[in-house]
Amino acid sequence: MKILGISAHYHDSAAALVVDGVPVCAVQEERLSRHKNDASFPESAIEWCLDHAGLTPAQLDAVVFYERSMLKFERILTCALRSFPRSWRSFPHAIKNSLGEKVWVRGIIASHLGVPRSKIFFTSHHAAHAAAAFFTAPTRRAAILTADGVGEWATLTAGHGERRDDGRANVTLLREIRYPHSLGMLYSTFTAYLGFAVNEDEYKVMGLAAYGRPTLAAQVRKLIRRTPDGAFALAPEYFEYHTTAARSYSSMFVELFGPPRSSYDPIDLDTAEGRRFADCAASVQHVLEETLVDITRALQRETGLRDLCLGGGVALNGVANARILAESGFERVFVPPAPGDAGCALGAALYADRVYFGNPDRDVPDHPFWGPHVDARELAQAAREDNQSVQDLDEPALLDYVAGELAAGRIVGWMDGACEFGPRALGHRSILAAPHSSEVRDRLNRDIKFREEFRPFAPVTTVEAAGRYFDLPPGGLRLARFMSGVFPVRPEWRSALAAVTHVDGSARLQALEREMAPRLYALLEAYGRRTGIPVLLNTSFNIAGEPIVNRALEGYSTFRRCGIDLLVAGPFVMTRRASARPAPLEEEIACSQSAAASGAV
Ligand SMILES: [Fe+2]
Repeated sequence: MKILGISAHYHDSAAALVVDGVPVCAVQEERLSRHKNDASFPESAIEWCLDHAGLTPAQLDAVVFYERSMLKFERILTCALRSFPRSWRSFPHAIKNSLGEKVWVRGIIASHLGVPRSKIFFTSHHAAHAAAAFFTAPTRRAAILTADGVGEWATLTAGHGERRDDGRANVTLLREIRYPHSLGMLYSTFTAYLGFAVNEDEYKVMGLAAYGRPTLAAQVRKLIRRTPDGAFALAPEYFEYHTTAARSYSSMFVELFGPPRSSYDPIDLDTAEGRRFADCAASVQHVLEETLVDITRALQRETGLRDLCLGGGVALNGVANARILAESGFERVFVPPAPGDAGCALGAALYADRVYFGNPDRDVPDHPFWGPHVDARELAQAAREDNQSVQDLDEPALLDYVAGELAAGRIVGWMDGACEFGPRALGHRSILAAPHSSEVRDRLNRDIKFREEFRPFAPVTTVEAAGRYFDLPPGGLRLARFMSGVFPVRPEWRSALAAVTHVDGSARLQALEREMAPRLYALLEAYGRRTGIPVLLNTSFNIAGEPIVNRALEGYSTFRRCGIDLLVAGPFVMTRRASARPAPLEEEIACSQSAAASGAV
């Protein structure tokens, strides 16, 4: 069966194609439209998926949308009526949104694709999250927890998934917590309060939390009341997201935590105000973690299972994921590369395949690379036409050269194969740099990523070397496969890994298996041979406000517009002209100096 999954109309629209039970391709609309967090109907993503598979819409057996639009509309309507007249301002806005697009999804899909309405299906939103988490994980039985802002009504679901010996597979959701009680909304309310963009900047709250202490945890606990059955309820008097689109927190919230931060004011951690904001972030992070640990611990006891699959946007919280692994009793925790709403496109297609249609379960390749491939020749041609230096090197020479440049403090744009599906760059669309120097980190923040200083960069290393540099608990390597966990950097390596060690001594590690991204793995080996430490700084290949680069020309354009020194794709290495190159770093690692002294560089 050929099944197209679609997510759209909230944030991070995407399309994914599953053929005979196996994903063929998946891509977020933003990577093609170049509008970050593009929420529109993913026309380009669908077109690319069909083109890539050589299919026409008429050849599709089913098109599956990632939520039940009418239920979502019912929730918006019910909540608006319940809180009337306070909601009267937001009501027309909500209704317009729903009536405009969300409710009439079947008609929109039918008219865009020209497929009969009988081929169009819907999953519940959290079933799509659960399917994206379970059906992509290499486990036969696992508990499942999904948590996000909100789907139709559910904001958190708990259940389990099973691959049976007869080839059938299923996910069963046993319980749910319903809107407006939502861990995602709690976190997003603090995201808004701290002056960041909701549904986009939640990871900034997590980054900021490391600078603070959870001194306000008792106040946060007033917002989220634990119920006797192990669940939770938000105290409605502190929130307004369910009554108005203008503000998510109430005046009582402001009384409790003080004035909110304006998004235009920088966060100065040397001031009492700056520290208060960091403490707010640390406190909501702390309460989120303890709530998730309690819920997952109860789920482990209830199911008796060893594996847990996490889905939904909350599963992007790597600090919470690591605590769940350490404290819940589950031995392995699986988080897919795209646990958020974009991943629901794939989840919806897999759910339809296994559960609606009852097709036999198939192993899903355990990698994130489902998007368009980079055309290295296109990139080299653009560079040559632009009078940039292009070298065409064989693989050993290229790896040795790039490793040497990295060791000397250069910053490298790295494009390889198919684009990642999900928000993380996991080795195919990455900016790479030496991990040792905080100057490299500051230059990346200032000249390339144009972003706040408090945000950490992530390291990538090989699975074989990870335990030497990072304090990984049992099961940590799995969580680090798609950069889904934050772990301590071993104290003795923190100065050598200063650019990737957060202020609290932690790092959001990617532990790479050779088979997943062989080229990056070989580069890590080459860099390790040269410097003694096979670890690189790995951040997404984009500049602030733009989606991760996809095609060759987007990589080239980003390379030209910011301070990246080298761009690598296929056998080609493009080097920024010397006149445009930043001054060499004052501090270079001792090993690279000794390598230089021996003539190796
Ligand atoms: Fe979601």
